[in-house]
Formats: sequence, C-alpha cells, structure tokens
Amino acid sequence: MAEAAIGGSAEWASYEEAGLRFEVDGEIATITLDRPDRRNAQTFATWSALARIGDTLPQQVRVVVVRGEGPSFSAGIDLRMFTPEGIPGEGSFAASARLDEATFEQQIAQAQRGFLWLRRPDVVSIAAVHGHAIGAGFQLALACDLRVLAEDAQLCMKEPALGLVPDLTGTKPLVDLVGPARAVEICLTARVVGAREAATIGLAELVVAPEDLAGAVSDLAAALLATDRGAATATKRLLQAARERTLEEQSAAERREQVARVRALFAGS
Ligand code: CAA
Repeated sequence: MAEAAIGGSAEWASYEEAGLRFEVDGEIATITLDRPDRRNAQTFATWSALARIGDTLPQQVRVVVVRGEGPSFSAGIDLRMFTPEGIPGEGSFAASARLDEATFEQQIAQAQRGFLWLRRPDVVSIAAVHGHAIGAGFQLALACDLRVLAEDAQLCMKEPALGLVPDLTGTKPLVDLVGPARAVEICLTARVVGAREAATIGLAELVVAPEDLAGAVSDLAAALLATDRGAATATKRLLQAARERTLEEQSAAERREQVARVRALFAGS
C-alpha cells in the first residue's frame, strides 16, 4: 500500500520500505525503527513516513512510543547520502547541493515534519532508547516529550563532525533540556553522552537495565493514561508555553485553561 512520500520526489514508499513499523494498541501507538541490519539508519522516506503517521494518527491515541529494533535505536542518517550515488530514489547531499535554496529548504522542512508532530499537546511521546542514538537518531529522541534510556544508550550529535548542523528539530529541545553551554559542548565535540550522564543533565527521565526497557516504557505509558485526557492535553499546552511567557501571561493562560476544564467537567450539573 502506498503510504509515504519520499522527500523531494514523487515516489511513494510503504512504512516497511521506509524502514518503519507502526502499531496501535488502544490508546498507545508504537513506532519502531525497523532496519536493524543498517542500525536503523534514517532516510527521507523514513521522515516522510513519520510525518504521515502524525497526519493520520488514530484519534484515540494518547501515547506514542518510538523505539528501535536490533542493537541500536538509530545510527542516524543513512550514510549513503554522503556518497555521489546517494540513496536510490532519494538522491544525495551532492544532488541536494545543486538545488535552489528554496527547494532544498523545502526538502528539509518536509523531513522536519516527521519530528515536529511528536510534541503536539494531545499526545505524549516517549523515546525508548537503547544502544546508539547518533545524529538523526539523537534528534528523534529529542523530538519526543520524554526519554527512557537503557543503561547501554549512547547519545551523540555527530553532525558537526561531518560538516553539518543538526537540522532535524533537535537543537531547541537540546538547549531547553541541558542549557546552551552544555549543548555547545555536546554538539561541537560530537562526543558520546552515556545513559547515566544523560539522566544527570536532564536528557533522560529514566534509566533502566536494557532488559527492563520495554517494561519501564509500558509502565510509564500506563501512568500517563491514568490521567484525564482533556486535562492532560491542556496541561501539556500550558507547560509547553511556560518558558516563553511572563508569570502574568502564564497565570492568565492557566485561568483560561481552567475555565475551559471546569466548564467541560461540570457543564449541566
Ligand atoms: N547509514 C547506513 N548504514 C549504516 C549506518 C548509517 N548511518 N550505520 C551503520 N550502518 C550499517 C553498516 O554499514 C553495517 O553494514 P554492513 O553490515 O553491510 O557492513 C551495519 O549497519 C552494521 O554497522 P556496524 O558494523 O558499524 O555496527 P556496530 O554495532 O559495530 O556500530 C554504530 C554501530 C556505532 C552505530 C556504527 O555503525 C556507526 O558509527 N554508524 C555511523 C553513525 C553515523 O555517523 N551516522 C551519521 C550521524 S549524522 C546525522 O544523522 C546527520 C543528519 O541528521 C543530517
């Protein structure tokens, strides 16, 4: 079945061809990066498929889990992008470099769409990270609201070491979580951040033994689902906007949301 547009081209790929599995079980959706023989390397098809999942997410879903099959969460962008031949049907950086600026930016914007929806207020996204999360893999974990790491997780923002910037929406959440100085240090050294350090500096909510990762994520999902859906959405909306607002603005936003909540809960009683 045709499901996902390949970035910048008119071709279509199924989730399977894009290296993903997508499963819905009640209120929980699970996205699995499923190209373990390539360490779940990502391509424009992967990002288009992610965007399509966001566009078509079943209404009942409240928690989205993003995980990786095999030994790594994700080894980042498919390195064939750096070769002259590129990825069949998707192109190469050399080909992209010849595009006009607006077209190339549009290609990147389409890739970013695959990440941005993971922050929408009506869902909570959880990255379940084990093994390597490099470049685009690290950014995918950063795109999620919460990160549960296995003790063997290794995060690395490799892009600057390859002459690129992190452009898959990762720079803002990274700075929000660890602050600008630590973000500069992590990105410009392209060093590996281990799971324990990740928890210490705010990059992980939870670190567990690798064999406990699935269980810990499922427990967290259950706890998130135990709250009222409308309240959860409104609270996430409030929390997301808090940094950009003054205390007075945020207080006003709390009032607006609470009036709506109380009306929704008690109208007609
Ligand atoms: N793209 C394509 N293939 C990849 C890949 C990638 N990013 N990462 C690994 N693979 C392939 C390997 O080529 C290898 O294939 P073969 O079996 O055909 O030789 C297979 O996956 C297994 O890889 P390894 O033997 O290297 O596995 P490992 O477990 O020993 O090491 C790893 C895992 C540390 C992740 C290592 O594979 C690695 O360093 N990969 C490259 C990581 C990288 O530099 N990614 C780019 C990040 S930058 C980014 O993502 C840019 C951006 O967003 C713009």
